[in-house]
This record gives sequence, C-alpha cells and structure tokens, in this order.
Amino acid sequence: MSADPCSFSSITRCVTKHLNLHLHVDFDKHVIKGKVELTVEALEDRFSVLTLDTRDLTIVSVATNGQAALFSLGPKHSFKGSQLDITLPFDLSRGQHVIVEVTYETSPSAAALQWLSPEQTAGKKQPYLFSQCQAHHCRSMIPCQDTPSVKHSYYAQVSVPQELVAVMSAVRDGQAADPQDSSRVVYRFRQTVAMPSYLIAIVVGALESREIGPRSRVWSEKEFVDKAAFEFSETETMLKTAEDLAGPYVWGQYDILVLPPSFPYGGMENPCLTFATPTLLAGDKSLSNVIAHEISHSWTGNLVTNKNWEHFWLNEGHTVYLERMIGRCMHGEQFRQFKAIGGWKDLQDSVNTFGANNPLTNLVPRLEEVDPDEAFSSVPYEKGFALLYHLEELLGGPEVFMGFVKSYIQLFAYSSVTTDDWKNYLFTYFKDKVDVLNKVDWNGWMFTPGMPPVKPQYDTTLADACINLSQRWIQAKEQDLSNFKESDLKTLSSHQLIEFLSLLLHEDPLPLTHVLKMQQVYDFHSCLNAEIRFRWLRLCVRSRWEEVVPMALKMATEQGRMKFTRPLFKEVYGFEKYREEVVSVFKAHRTAMHPVTAGLVIKDLKVDVSL
Ligand code: BES
Ligand code: ZN
Repeated sequence: MSADPCSFSSITRCVTKHLNLHLHVDFDKHVIKGKVELTVEALEDRFSVLTLDTRDLTIVSVATNGQAALFSLGPKHSFKGSQLDITLPFDLSRGQHVIVEVTYETSPSAAALQWLSPEQTAGKKQPYLFSQCQAHHCRSMIPCQDTPSVKHSYYAQVSVPQELVAVMSAVRDGQAADPQDSSRVVYRFRQTVAMPSYLIAIVVGALESREIGPRSRVWSEKEFVDKAAFEFSETETMLKTAEDLAGPYVWGQYDILVLPPSFPYGGMENPCLTFATPTLLAGDKSLSNVIAHEISHSWTGNLVTNKNWEHFWLNEGHTVYLERMIGRCMHGEQFRQFKAIGGWKDLQDSVNTFGANNPLTNLVPRLEEVDPDEAFSSVPYEKGFALLYHLEELLGGPEVFMGFVKSYIQLFAYSSVTTDDWKNYLFTYFKDKVDVLNKVDWNGWMFTPGMPPVKPQYDTTLADACINLSQRWIQAKEQDLSNFKESDLKTLSSHQLIEFLSLLLHEDPLPLTHVLKMQQVYDFHSCLNAEIRFRWLRLCVRSRWEEVVPMALKMATEQGRMKFTRPLFKEVYGFEKYREEVVSVFKAHRTAMHPVTAGLVIKDLKVDVSL
C-alpha cells in the first residue's frame, strides 16, 4: 500500500476506528479547546509509537488507556503541519485497540476555521464559526490520522454560548445545559457511518432551520432560511433519483446549511449536512447543479473514498458523472449533453491556466510536496467525467455504464480506493469487453498532461443557440451592432446564458464598443445570478471597461467563493492600470477573508506578505 503524500500518519501500522470529541468553542479567543479520544487499532505486532497529523495545534497532554504518555511534535512543514509522535507506555499486538486521549487547543489562524465577527454575519448580532476540512485541514482542528485512507465513526459534544446553535456533519443527538458553565449549551452529535477525517465539519452561529423534506432541513441565519427552503425544495426528488441510480442513501439525514458569503466553495458534501454557498440563493433555482453534485457525493466520495488526493478524480469525476445522470433523469439527455459540453470547456480553461505541459493537469497527478489546495482545478472533475463518458460510449451507453458505477459503489462502499482498484474492477465487470478496454489510451488519459487523447462526441442541440449568438458578437463590425436586440435572449435559458458568456471568454477580448452595446441591449449589470454576473464582469474587464473594475472588485470581496473570487482578482490584476488598486483592495479585505482563500489570492497576485 502506498503512503499518503499529504499525511505524516502511517496507514500500514495502525488505523483509527472512532473519535470521541469534546469541543469548547471560545469566540473571545478564536480558539477551540478540545479533547479527543481516538480508538486506534494496531495493524502490526509490537506497536508502540503512534503518529498523528496536527497543524498549528497546542498539545496540552496525552494519555493512552488513561495513563499519561510521552509525546513530541515534529518540525512544521509548510502545508502538512507537524507530526505528533505518541509513545505508548506498553506494546500492542496486531488487532489490539488503544484509546489515545489528546487535550489540545487550536490556533486563531487554524486553516480549517473561519471566525466571523457579528458585523460579518447577516444578523449582525452574533459571531459565527465554520470549518472546511477538505482536503488536509482537519489536522488544524483535531489531531488525527488526517488521510482519506482511514475511516472512522465519531461522537461529539460541543459547548457553545447559549445564544448560539452548533451543527455538525452527523445526526443530531440532543442538547443540554453545560454542567461547567450555565451560560453555555452542549450540543451532541453522532456519526455512526465510518468516514474520512476530511468530512468532519462544524458550524456555530445564530442558526435556524426549516423542514424541506422527510429527511431534510435547511439551516442558515434566519434572514435566509425562507429563501433557502425555496431554493432547495427539489432536494427530496434529487435524493430519490440518486437512490434509484446508485443504491440506498445510508446517512439517515440529508440537511443543507447555507453559509455566510465567505464560504470558499459552491458546496461541500459533509455527511448528513451539505454546506452551500449563499451565492446559490440569488436568482434562478433550476440553475443550480450544486445540490445534485453534493447529494451524489453521498455515494462517490463519502461511501467510496479516494485513498489519497492523487486519486481525487475518483471522488469528483464519478460525482460529476452521477450529478449529470440526475440531470438526465430530471431534464433529459440533451440537457446532460449540454452540461458535458460546458464541462469540456471548463477543462480547456484549467488546462490553459495551468499550461498544457503542467503535470498537475494529469488525471492522476503526483502530489509529493504539492499542496492540494494549489493543485485544485476542474481537471479531476472534467477530465474524470470525460473519461467516464468516453467509456460509456465505448461500452454500451448510459444504462450499461451506470450499471458498472452502481456495482463499483456497492463493492467499495465503506472503503477507500486507488485508480488501480477502480480500473481492475472495470476490467472485471466488463470481462466480455476487455478487447474494447485494451484499446483505451490509459496512459494518455491518466498520466499525460493537457487535454485528453480523445474528445467525446456530444449532442449540440442546446449548445447551438449559444454558439450562434456568440459568433454573431465575435464577428460583428461596429456598423452591425445595431442588429442586436434584447429579444436575442428570449429563447435562451439561464444555463444557455452562462454558456454564451463562457464562449465569449474563450475568444480574444471583444472591442469595448461591443460590451457597451451588450450592456445596453441585454443589461447584464442588473443580473444578480452569480454564475452570470461573474462571467459578465470578467468579459467587461477584459475589454478594458474601466467603470466595471469597481463592480468586479466588489463581487470579488463581497462573496468569497474561490471559483469566483480568484479569477475576478486575477482578471483585474491583468488590467495593468488597476494592478496596484487590486492589491490594496485585497490587503484591506484580507483579515475578513477565509484563511485558505486569502493564502491562494496572495499567490495569484504575487503579493509580498513580508510587508
Ligand atoms: N468536495 C468539493 C469541494 C472541495 C474540493 C473542497 C476540494 C475542498 C477541496 C465539492 O463537492 C465540490 O466539488 N464543489 C463544487 C460544486 C460544483 C462542482 C457543482 C464547487 O464548490 O464549485
Ligand atoms: Zn465535488
């Protein structure tokens, strides 16, 4: 078994089976005071030294089976943190368990956590805390074997000020007054399904919830809860569709929590409690594929998990495949084809940004000494999807290939897999079509940078209208501009509007006259939908429309979804005249930003942080 290049903890010598967490959330100091009991099983005889991952944690004490134990923290690695070596005062034989109790405190700058002041919330009265552990940040919140190759259940008791509510990626198990402090409440959670550390999640804030289905509630500050209940009203339909495709949903509850605007992702598949960006709430509900995507992770990712981040495409590629299968069931095959075309273009964008020779554009990259946050891109999503779709075409179509995906999920449920595990099972399942499989350029798909060796054929029915309109704009001379009318958009869905703008972003910048005219006839400035607004503002900045610069910087800072914020900052940075302004706007907002987002924007903008 190959080790996890992003973790210090050895996965061949021992594995964690369960975590019992006691967390005390301190909003004054911006720290969590924690005690974790790890139930660890030895995988070898004479086992006596246990290594855990930590990052910026203060370790107060360690005990093993109730006895004080010696421990030492290793040197700090830039993104892996410090290994915590614990010497057991006794040896374990293979198969024996030990309970390791670590008392610790997080750092105010823990990478997994963002602490928001009341002013940064919608309600303005209470502070807010949220975590984002994927990929390798759990270790800054809990000392643990922070590798997706290890799966465990957990139980948690979380003490928070009584005005606040805590939720976690688990089933709620009641609450009670904190026996140690009458101004606080302890919330309890239980996660009985074994899962990787990166799926542990916590939120504390002035939260409310509303029922949206037989196994679903939405959670958010009260200001958003009705809007969220409306936006996510299709949740149960999607869950049932996903169960028909992939098998029973094993996690019990499926809730959605809408976070404050600085949440760095569109969605995060925390078990029992998907996290979602509030940017989904502005506008057209049918437009959002994020919930279908996060629901799909309940099978691909959370049940069948990538063994380490080099195999991340197994999580995201299969999830995009399932997400688009749900889209197919709900809106038809043409819709899936349309989404696949858009995905191919997103892949093209990532390949262009990283460079076609960059090994990080491999489907299966090597991540030795590579920070997973810096390697993140559309490649695992869309090269992964393209490979699965290519195989679907070769092996007999959507129903046949979905049969394989379902069987793969059943076989590997509750475990962690590598690309080889997946590929070996593919060859087993399609044993009658091995000749077809042997013709696939596996090395080209998996270990070669750039675009895939084959471009799948997609049906362009829904894409044609976008292509036609974008071509009219690209080819228009100044004197043709009067031909454009508001009614050009009449027959286009919002999905198609997004695609239209993406196509324009793929070309050389339009002349300024063109985007001015486009605003006059289509009025994208007043569009609140984040996916449309993001692309439109980039297009305008590219055409050097100066009045749009403040709007672009406003969007980059008022919400913090990295998919929007990083390209917006970069786009304005590319406009030389405003380069200094971008850097100063970033610096002014930095302390209010999510720590991971801020760290990546610093690199994108080459900001000198020593100043
Ligand atoms: N698990 C990811 C988010 C993630 C990936 C967080 C890697 C940290 C490290 C989530 O499922 C995801 O892919 N979100 C997408 C949704 C989209 C593909 C529909 C996003 O945030 O945009
Ligand atoms: Zn995902």
